[in-house]
Amino acid sequence: MKQKLTIALIGCGSFAEDFVELFKKHPNTEKVYVCDLIRERAEAFSKQFDCEIIDTFEDVLKKEDVNCILNFTRRHQHGDITIRALKAGKHVYSSVPMASSVEECKEIVELVKDTGLTYVIGETCYYYPCAMFCREAYKNGKIGKFQYGAAQYYHHIDSISYGKIKEERGMPPLFYPTHSTAMILSACDSYVKRVVCFGCKTDDEAFLPGNNEWGNEHINQYVLMELANGGTARVTEARGFSYGSPSSYISNMYGTKGSYEFSNAQHLFFEREDNTEKDIIHVTDVSDYVNPADMVKNKHLPDFKEKAANWEWQRNSPAKVQEEEYKRVPAEFEGLRNSHMASHQLLVDDFCTCAFEGKMPVLNAWFAARSNVPGLVAIESAKQGGIPLEVPDFGDAPVK
Ligand SMILES: NC(=O)c1ccc[n+]([C@@H]2O[C@H](COP(=O)([O-])OP(=O)(O)OC[C@H]3O[C@@H](n4cnc5c(N)ncnc54)[C@H](O)[C@@H]3O)[C@@H](O)[C@H]2O)c1
Repeated sequence: MKQKLTIALIGCGSFAEDFVELFKKHPNTEKVYVCDLIRERAEAFSKQFDCEIIDTFEDVLKKEDVNCILNFTRRHQHGDITIRALKAGKHVYSSVPMASSVEECKEIVELVKDTGLTYVIGETCYYYPCAMFCREAYKNGKIGKFQYGAAQYYHHIDSISYGKIKEERGMPPLFYPTHSTAMILSACDSYVKRVVCFGCKTDDEAFLPGNNEWGNEHINQYVLMELANGGTARVTEARGFSYGSPSSYISNMYGTKGSYEFSNAQHLFFEREDNTEKDIIHVTDVSDYVNPADMVKNKHLPDFKEKAANWEWQRNSPAKVQEEEYKRVPAEFEGLRNSHMASHQLLVDDFCTCAFEGKMPVLNAWFAARSNVPGLVAIESAKQGGIPLEVPDFGDAPVK
């Protein structure tokens, strides 16, 4: 018989706060516990969400009724927590990134393969409307053969949460690459074979030599990726740009038949007419299909572009391109929190459905590794002045 999920949430920080209610209300969930090294944080969650506390992660590992953990710890702690949870026989939902080293990513893939447990990487951007639009266009043959695409995650170091933590501020931007890679790689259905990477130095103290544990001096990093399908992708992870929202997006994707371009709140699709000697291009403005419903409603406002650049309307309301995917979201989620371009509810449903039913999730460990490992290798390329480096690949997810 299928076993309902008894979940322990590890890490009661600001991001996890958005998720507790969703995990609690999913029909496949029996119970949610909370756990944090900082007692007051666990107590605040316990009070706010009416959840019992488990004192330590070590206690979680020993607790037999807990069959899942949610890894919402700090960015550089994910690998260790995930590996220990899988070894203790728990399914894992992990916020991004997957892990801190190629070796840890490999170990997670192998543990998931050997145990048959469910692992989901909670990559919000996978469900961003622009990524869904590009995946749909590519799958329907409208792009043709993929040539080149670019994705980025821009988040100024002074406004990102880890920028305020002294030991984390100087982290290499590509330590956290999945917002960009998960979008562009899923859009063209490929993975990375080789990378070349450059970075931009800064006089910010956290990035000066010897001032962070990664030996990192780059506030922005730019990586060119050679893909298995013969195409090329460019990914930028920037923490020093004067730019607002959306922070993660596909700026362009070009194929032999069709191409996509985006800026501010405008999404355009270009199609090259078949069988013509002349180069005839048809342009469709697909903004109403790709922008969140609340944004579309407000598109005639005189300060629309300014508001779009300042995060307005990009949290709760699904875009038209997301509507089909939303059909599977349980009725219990109605009116509950949703954020990051309406991706949270889809991610929680992915995990709760797959862990309960024993299905292979789309955001599985193999996908997570293909999104994460290129960033870790690219950091090394940048350190060595931009030399090309091969990216290890752990293959496709097995069919369950
Ligand atoms: N769009 C996205 O996908 C997105 C957005 C924001 C944050 N995140 C991810 O979410 C995670 C959490 O972010 P945050 O800003 O809330 O971080 P945070 O630092 O505020 O919270 C992390 C919490 O984990 C706790 N913790 C660490 N190790 C622990 C252990 N062994 N046992 C119990 N508790 C432990 C810490 O005490 C802390 O309270 C990060 O890894 C980040 O990468 C993802």
